Amino acid sequence: MLATELEGLGLGPCTPRRGAVAFRGPLSAGYRACLWSRVASRVLVQLGEGPAQDSDALYRTVRGIPWRPHLGPDHTLAVDFVGGNAALRHTGFGARRTKDAICDQLRAATGRRPSIDLEHPDIRVHVHVAGEHCTVSLDLAGDPLHRRSAGVEGGRAPLKETLAAALLLLADWPAAAAAGRALVDPMCGSGSFLREGLAMAVGLPPGLPRRRWGFDRWRAHDRALWEGLVAEARATPRRPPPPVFGYDRDPGALETACAGLAGLGLGEAVRLLRVPLALAEPPTEQPGFVITNPPYGARLGSVADAEAVMALLGDVLRRRFLGWRAFVLTGSPRLARRLGLRPARRIPVWNGRIECRFLDVPISSRPVERDRPDAGPVG
Ligand SMILES: C[S@@+](CC[C@H](N)C(=O)[O-])C[C@H]1O[C@@H](n2cnc3c(N)ncnc32)[C@H](O)[C@@H]1O
Repeated sequence: MLATELEGLGLGPCTPRRGAVAFRGPLSAGYRACLWSRVASRVLVQLGEGPAQDSDALYRTVRGIPWRPHLGPDHTLAVDFVGGNAALRHTGFGARRTKDAICDQLRAATGRRPSIDLEHPDIRVHVHVAGEHCTVSLDLAGDPLHRRSAGVEGGRAPLKETLAAALLLLADWPAAAAAGRALVDPMCGSGSFLREGLAMAVGLPPGLPRRRWGFDRWRAHDRALWEGLVAEARATPRRPPPPVFGYDRDPGALETACAGLAGLGLGEAVRLLRVPLALAEPPTEQPGFVITNPPYGARLGSVADAEAVMALLGDVLRRRFLGWRAFVLTGSPRLARRLGLRPARRIPVWNGRIECRFLDVPISSRPVERDRPDAGPVG
C-alpha cells in the first residue's frame, strides 16, 4: 500500500521490503514523503551500511560513517535499534554501541560529545540489523508520522492514523469520495477514520499540521527547500468534502473527535452525533460507505460485550443499510462471524500486536448463519 501511495506521489520506483519500502531520490523526495504520505510511519535517509555480525563490527561500521555533516557536540541524540542477530540480541545494547561509536567519533574530532535525549532528540538515528548486516539511517520524521498534530491524541482505543489511512485506501475510499458518496463511522470513538477519510477526500497534506520534525536541527537540513514544499502543499487546491458522519454513544469520545477535526480545520465538514448503535440510520439516501472499528473485547470491556456489539452491527447494517458497503476491522475471526454478514474480502492486518481482519462487506438482504443465537432485534 505504501509503495503504491509513494509512487502515486511521484516518488520511486519503490521496492517493497519487509515492513518498509525503499526508494531513491534527492532530499526533496524524502521531504515530500514526510509531508504527503498518509501510510508511512517514518521516513529514513540511509547514511551507511556494513557488517554487524557482532557489537564490535557494528561499532566499526557506525564509526566509519562521517557524522559531522549531520550533528555536532551541541546536538542531542537518540538511537532506535531494530532487528538483531545471535550476537546482538538486546536492542538496548545495540543502541548503546551505536551511540558510543557516534559520540567517540565526534569527541575525537571536537573534544566534546553530544548528549542523549530519548524523548525529543535533535537527531534520531535508526539502525536495522538483519543477519550479519546493518543499515544506519537518519529519521527525518522524528516523532512517528501517525502523530499528525500536537493536539490530536486519540481516545480510549484509538486507531493509529497511518493504519486508518491504509484501511481507507484498501477500501478504495478516495474513488467513492470523489463520486460524492457518504462516509459513516457508527462507532467513531476519537474519529480516526473520519479525520483520515476527510483529509484524504479534500486533499489535505497529512504533514501540514505538524510542528516538529526529525530534521529541524539536522545540519544538512535544507530549510529553503522544505519551506518551498510546505508552501506548495498549502497552495494545493482542496477538493469539496463529501458528507461525513460520526456516531458514538460516548460523549467523551465525541468531544475528542470534535476537537481533532476542528484542529485540522475540518470541523464544519463532519456531523458528529451521540447515537447508540441500535438507533444508527443511514444519513443519506444514496448508499455510501460505513467504516468502523468496533470494540474487540481485548482492550476495552469483555469479549461477550464485543460479540453482542458485533451482532448488533450486523443487524443494523442488514436491516437499514441495504445497498451500502461496510468495512469492519475486527479483532478476531470469532468476532467476524458474529457479524452474520458474508464478507467479499477478509484482509489480515495488524493493529499493534492484535492480528485483525478487515472485512469488506457489501450489504445485501441475505444474512449468513451465525455460530451463536441472535443478539435480538434492533432498536
Ligand atoms: C475501538 S473504539 C473505536 C476507536 C476509533 N476507531 C478511534 O480511532 O478512536 C469503539 C467505539 O465504539 C463505541 N461503542 C461501543 N458500543 C457502542 C454502541 N452500542 N453504540 C455506540 N457506540 C458504541 C465506543 O464508545 C468506542 O468509542
